[in-house]
Amino acid sequence: MESKELVKEAFKARENSYSPYSGFSVGAALLCKNGKIYRGCNMENAAYSPGICAERAAIYKAVSEGDKEFSKIAIVGGPTGGKIEKYAFPCGVCRQVMMEFVNPDNFIIVVAISENEYKEYTLKELLPEGFGPDNL
Ligand code: THU
Repeated sequence: MESKELVKEAFKARENSYSPYSGFSVGAALLCKNGKIYRGCNMENAAYSPGICAERAAIYKAVSEGDKEFSKIAIVGGPTGGKIEKYAFPCGVCRQVMMEFVNPDNFIIVVAISENEYKEYTLKELLPEGFGPDNL
């Protein structure tokens, strides 16, 4: 699937963001090797620490439905209701969770500010020398 299409899915996912505390809405769309797409959004909480990022929401949805082979994830984040001006990169915890399931050389992370403005990285570029299942 083209990155542009996956970015569109991430924008749709972002519409469901529950982020009343940060005012920062994030959407993610995770493409599985079997072609399925799982959407995720960030979900915050009055107690703060139970909140979860969009990327992990998508990954946990996929794994809990039996899918754990992934090829790409698209991420869109910015002020709720405002213009997206900066690329939202995955936090360190989300990079580590990706590391658990993917080959860092091949897994593509797409960060976007619009359907036509996006950048692509491998997980290895964003998490060099990452610690994963192969290290145990
Ligand atoms: N957030 C994500 O959803 N993904 C990231 O990789 C970075 C941060 C969320 C968490 C919180 O709800 C809001 O963005 C502000 O940090």
